[in-house]
Amino acid sequence: MTSEIINIPAHVAIIMDGNGRWAGKQGRERLFGHEAGIESIKVAVEYAKERGIRYLSLFAFSEENWGRPDEEVEGLMSLISGAILEERSLFLEAGVRLRVIGNREPLPENILAIIDETEADTLNNSLLDLIVMLSYSGRWDILGAARRYGEMCADAAGKGLPLPSLDEDSFSGLLGTHGIPDPDLIIRTSGELRLSNYMLWQAAYTELYFTEVLWPDFRKTDFDMALASFNNRQRRFGKLK
Ligand code: IPE
Ligand code: IPE
Ligand code: MG
Repeated sequence: MTSEIINIPAHVAIIMDGNGRWAGKQGRERLFGHEAGIESIKVAVEYAKERGIRYLSLFAFSEENWGRPDEEVEGLMSLISGAILEERSLFLEAGVRLRVIGNREPLPENILAIIDETEADTLNNSLLDLIVMLSYSGRWDILGAARRYGEMCADAAGKGLPLPSLDEDSFSGLLGTHGIPDPDLIIRTSGELRLSNYMLWQAAYTELYFTEVLWPDFRKTDFDMALASFNNRQRRFGKLK
């Protein structure tokens, strides 16, 4: 089946959902599911590279997820930062550039340091951009861009300069995802049919794919089914084809 896919999306984004339910089904703690989800991330990154996907975005932790019990939040933070640290040398070998996008304010210093160092180390890699959305939400992203534009206006006004122009492209450039093309395909696991505040601006014309598979069970064949579905979509962007 894999060889039939001719239209590989440049940017695939995944809402990795269902870790807690996966653990619950086995009578285990939610963190056990998050731990198992790390293996699925490794598989997805490797397969994205294999299939020639240029950008892979992973929704790892939402702004709203800060509202979960402390134990789960702390466990998730240490799992995510531990995985970044562990994979750093592999990213370098494999030509993967890491980019972490999200609200840094609530993130602990030690995790910020791991992120900053790994981003700097992998800056010149260009085979696959791995974008990890951590402490991210679409509305946070849009608000941040609006605030930055406001600051640019205040700065220009202070200098007696004309206000900076604003259009869709320049606004996109003010988002956390600046420089990254909009996602072509968003995959959400675990059967939930919603975006949960993910890339709201960027997903305007993204193809959506939902699967019942829980994230810790997500493997190459599941990724392939999503790619095959994308391959059969006709994207019209509001025009006639
Ligand atoms: C996704 O799995 C991971 C995060 C949101 C951090 P969940 O933890 O949401 O698992 P479910 O949806 O409760 O099964
Ligand atoms: C979305 O999953 C966020 C991530 C996958 C990181 P949630 O489990 O937080 O979403 P809801 O609460 O079901 O909408
Ligand atoms: Mg969930």
